[in-house]
Amino acid sequence: MKTAIVTGAARGIGLATTKLFVEEGWQVAMIDRDAPALMEAKVPGAFQVVCDVSDPAAVEHMVSDVLERSGRIDALVNNAGVADFGPIAETDFERWRDVMETNLDGVFLVSQACASALAESRGAVVNIASISGLRASTLRVAYGTSKAGVMHLTQQQAAEWGEHGVRVNCVCPGPVRTKLAMAVHTQDIIDAYHDAIPLNRYGSEEEIGNVIVFLCSDKASYVTGQVIAVDGGFQSTGIGLPALRG
Ligand SMILES: NC(=O)c1ccc[n+]([C@@H]2O[C@H](COP(=O)([O-])OP(=O)(O)OC[C@H]3O[C@@H](n4cnc5c(N)ncnc54)[C@H](O)[C@@H]3O)[C@@H](O)[C@H]2O)c1
Repeated sequence: MKTAIVTGAARGIGLATTKLFVEEGWQVAMIDRDAPALMEAKVPGAFQVVCDVSDPAAVEHMVSDVLERSGRIDALVNNAGVADFGPIAETDFERWRDVMETNLDGVFLVSQACASALAESRGAVVNIASISGLRASTLRVAYGTSKAGVMHLTQQQAAEWGEHGVRVNCVCPGPVRTKLAMAVHTQDIIDAYHDAIPLNRYGSEEEIGNVIVFLCSDKASYVTGQVIAVDGGFQSTGIGLPALRG
């Protein structure tokens, strides 16, 4: 049975993506470091493995655990992420590292640990970045920089693993009302996003998950090295949207 690893699967976009994979007949290994939340997030057709993606030894252990249970890895969704918004002057090294170690180191580590299994299955990787990696804005010095790194890491992986038949793409979600976003989106930020997004609303977890599952499927068999924004049009627009709305 085709098996996908989804990191950060206890809630939010990762949990929604897990359910969409299962609907398509995949088996899913749900990975998260929040053990109580992960155990609560039961999805028939999926199994849970507690793991902090920023811990190299834990990642090695998790991947061999998954391979022992499933025998194969056909897709990897590097979705685990943390958000911390603050001005540069207040972002001390500890806050910077905290964001980098999950958002960027985690993607590097889990991908590397899955590389040979993915080559064997000629599988696919989808890395989750953000619109904050596509455009700079205030308060996102660590978060935005980590996500820009994820976009480039995607292209490095696609360039190197293409000859093994492994496809690697990146999804940049726009704002979605998950726990991560609501912890850092003030009312002002919510209003600013509405103004800047042509579709004039937040996205849903499923709207992001549908694109992730598509990119992991055979329907995307000639798509690799791409950065795809699922953002209601945010990235495609420039200045003046609120003033120029009809
Ligand atoms: N929600 C948004 O508006 C939005 C926008 C753009 C990008 N994203 C990205 O989408 C991804 C999912 O975010 P979400 O909004 O669903 O967040 P969420 O907080 O609801 O879920 C993230 C999950 O990742 C887990 N996690 C965090 N660090 C981990 C680690 N080191 N090891 C293992 N698990 C870890 C958390 O425990 C949590 O269950 C993140 O990469 C985030 O940066 C979200």
